[in-house]
Amino acid sequence: MNWVEFLAPYKQVVEELKVKLKGMRPQFEFESSHSPIEFVTGRVKPIPSIIEKVKIREIAAENIEKEIQDIAGLRVVCQFVDDIYTVVDMLRTRNDFTIVEERDYITNKKKSGYRSYHMIIEYPVEMIHGRKMVLAEIQIRTLAMNFWATNEHSLNYKYDGRIPTEIKERLQNAAEAAFLLDEEMSKIKHEIQEAQRIFHRK
Ligand code: GTP
Ligand code: MG
Repeated sequence: MNWVEFLAPYKQVVEELKVKLKGMRPQFEFESSHSPIEFVTGRVKPIPSIIEKVKIREIAAENIEKEIQDIAGLRVVCQFVDDIYTVVDMLRTRNDFTIVEERDYITNKKKSGYRSYHMIIEYPVEMIHGRKMVLAEIQIRTLAMNFWATNEHSLNYKYDGRIPTEIKERLQNAAEAAFLLDEEMSKIKHEIQEAQRIFHRK
């Protein structure tokens, strides 16, 4: 397996999508309206993680591109829960990629407590030897959901996926607390936005 060659289109996709998604922010600022996007990050899945997933799921080498949908990963972080759906709607109307799958882990949270909106897209990337269709995963979540997921991810890494029951329960409680925080902030969203508009003008 030539990983450098295999991952080249994915690297390109991540870079292009970061530019495109980040580019939405100044457009909102220009309209002096609230940006639904707080920040955008992207990464190509590290080779050891790809190899591990291939082993666990017994994926044949020729099926990696199709079976592992998060080799190219983008993350859009929003201030408020309804910003997530604004972003989702905007992504649905775009013509530069097609949506393959959507998973709403906000209305249907995972057992761990994980919340986020996931979109798998098929993105055409122009390489020197022609166009290639590449799958990418876009995760859209609030700052609170991101805080939770980042911490839970660290613990999963530390405990090799086997987080002790007591900590698991605390994480589930923390997930609910994060969701309550999102709900409370939503209730005063207009107050916050007004304050941020005033601050922005100064
Ligand atoms: P993966 O093998 O993890 O990709 O699972 P999947 O193909 O069934 O997709 P799923 O939508 O469940 O998860 C996709 C991605 O969402 C993962 O790679 C993680 O980045 C994130 N994710 C899903 N569940 C959790 C969770 O419980 N905790 C955290 N921190 N992240 C999660
Ligand atoms: Mg996945």
